[in-house]
Amino acid sequence: MFHLIHSQLTGKTKFAMQNILVTGGCGFIGSEFIRQQLALDDGSTIINLDKLTYAGNLENLVNVADHPRYVFHRGDIADRECVETLMNRYAIEAVVNFAAESHVDRSLLDSAPFVKTNVVGTQVLLDAARTADVSRFLQVSTDEVYGSLGATGYFVEETPLAPNSPYSASKAAADMLVRSYHHSFGFPAIITRCSNNYGPYQFPEKLLPLFISNLLADIAVPIYGTGLNVRDWIHVSDHCRGIDAALRHGTPGEVYLFGGRTEKTNIEITHLLLKLLTKPESLMRHVVDRLGHDNRYAVDCSKSERELGWRPRVTFEQGLLETIQWYRENQSWMASVKSGDYLEYYSRQYQSAKPVTH
Ligand code: NAD
Ligand code: TYD
Repeated sequence: MFHLIHSQLTGKTKFAMQNILVTGGCGFIGSEFIRQQLALDDGSTIINLDKLTYAGNLENLVNVADHPRYVFHRGDIADRECVETLMNRYAIEAVVNFAAESHVDRSLLDSAPFVKTNVVGTQVLLDAARTADVSRFLQVSTDEVYGSLGATGYFVEETPLAPNSPYSASKAAADMLVRSYHHSFGFPAIITRCSNNYGPYQFPEKLLPLFISNLLADIAVPIYGTGLNVRDWIHVSDHCRGIDAALRHGTPGEVYLFGGRTEKTNIEITHLLLKLLTKPESLMRHVVDRLGHDNRYAVDCSKSERELGWRPRVTFEQGLLETIQWYRENQSWMASVKSGDYLEYYSRQYQSAKPVTH
């Protein structure tokens, strides 16, 4: 059961949970969420279940590895026995599901792991959580399930799902399962959908860490197509504060959107990075476009602001400066994640990407 406590931080009364199962906690966003949760004074214990795929890294949590309220377990969310064992052993009261294959480009190379983890894994977790009678299940999803926008308009919670990539299709399938468990069984599930995150510890296959890492090493940055595609950027700490707010104050069966209200084209981002890193424009390289490349994402997060009392705090200018600084200061982290698997992926993804001129 939830325990009502009075937060010294916000002055609000909120739910405290005793044992939270966090899946995918060794990834970019999950590790930020765990660091935030352990910094709170509400006494929840975090059980982190992570398969440690290429994207999962124990280094991301090295500073909290010995925390008395933290337990790590290596395992697969699609492994029913493993999940059920953890639910029982720790009397789990809430689940936050970050675990996923998360990269669009990889889903275009091979969609099988996306279906296995994102769809089957979510179904296994849902069943185990229902049997364990958890009080909350929070599914961490993405605005990409809504597909692509034209030049105007915003995604809202009710926008029809129209995923375009195997990645977003697998996330939409998982969301539909979560929705059905709430509808059919009254299962206390909440879905959050967020726009593009940036910040420290992001694996360098995504735009910002890839471009920062390349530019720091004077390697050209591969801009897909025209580079005029738009993303709505949010700092990872703001996203995780939103997940915490939805977990504690959200209504079961509801969807909550998070975004940074910061729309930028990829070209704008590239120019900004070149300026901040004092690198020449000759390092910009237009390469063939991503297949099915979504044109624009933009999120109207007013429901979350209104109902959860949440709003993004980190400005893009400040967040980007701090993020660049973090990658500068953590080049050994970057070197360690650029393992054999990464180099193989990079060469497969980009050596075949022919430069194009506009
Ligand atoms: P990530 O790729 O950095 O991390 C994923 C983590 O999940 C890794 O630690 C990995 O080892 C783990 N994992 C993968 N398969 C697993 C399995 N079968 N069992 C257990 N663990 C497994 O991803 P991220 O960027 O931190 O994204 C986390 C979640 O947030 C995902 O569900 C993603 O769809 C969602 N999301 C991401 C963004 C973004 O901009 N990155 C935006 C919105 C939503
Ligand atoms: P990405 O970080 O992969 O996130 P998503 O596809 O989930 O939005 O990509 C962000 C944007 O950057 C997207 O429009 C694709 C573009 N992009 C490039 O132009 N070059 C790259 O090498 C990568 C990884 C992304």
